[in-house]
Amino acid sequence: MNILLVNSSPRQHQSCTYLLAQTIIQQLSKESAVEVTETDATKLPHLDADYSMAVCSPGLMHDESNGSLALSNQLISELINADFVIIASPMHNYSLPSALKSWVDHVVRAGRTFNISPTGKHGVLNDKPVYVLVSSGGRFSGKEAYQADFFTPYMKEVMTTIGLKNIQFFTIEGTVGSHEAVREKIESVQNQVKYHLENALV
Ligand SMILES: Cc1cc2nc3c(=O)[nH]c(=O)nc-3n(C[C@H](O)[C@H](O)[C@H](O)COP(=O)(O)O)c2cc1C
Repeated sequence: MNILLVNSSPRQHQSCTYLLAQTIIQQLSKESAVEVTETDATKLPHLDADYSMAVCSPGLMHDESNGSLALSNQLISELINADFVIIASPMHNYSLPSALKSWVDHVVRAGRTFNISPTGKHGVLNDKPVYVLVSSGGRFSGKEAYQADFFTPYMKEVMTTIGLKNIQFFTIEGTVGSHEAVREKIESVQNQVKYHLENALV
């Protein structure tokens, strides 16, 4: 099984969701041999002018051998080759960190991963499980939520746009607590993920 792990946290391997991603990988490797491709979204640049031109003038030929177009092709290939996708990310200002937004802008690409027709946008990727792991300092879901959440509906919409509809979200919320409290939260979500993978759905 090819697993693509997109890590969007500035805290890199110290991140709560990176830890959770490792739990998923360990769990999946009990079932079959796994190969993991790790993309560090925090190293991705913003899109360049050639990319913007190519998306906005699809009939013309464009040099795709360098810049954002080449990077986009590479990131799209990683996504196509994956059997299972894990996106690990903090919430930043109610939404995606800019690193993850950059990854989205490279892979959600008109004429490549979705087509536009009079009836709307249609994804072209084969569906596969996408596990989106989100951590946040406060709470954004459930009864104790006190802030907006533009992260989860947005990720659902953009992944669906390219054909990835099998999306599961797992959240670690309230990470501003004590070290012990955060560790307990992470363990609790690790158990949820294990239960989900054992009884499901992949
Ligand atoms: C720039 C920035 C913006 C943030 N915005 C939010 C926010 O809108 N809501 C929230 O609950 N936490 C917010 N946080 C806190 C992080 O989501 C939280 O620390 C998270 O657990 C970090 O996850 P990680 O361990 O995966 O890096 C923000 C943190 C930073 C650095």
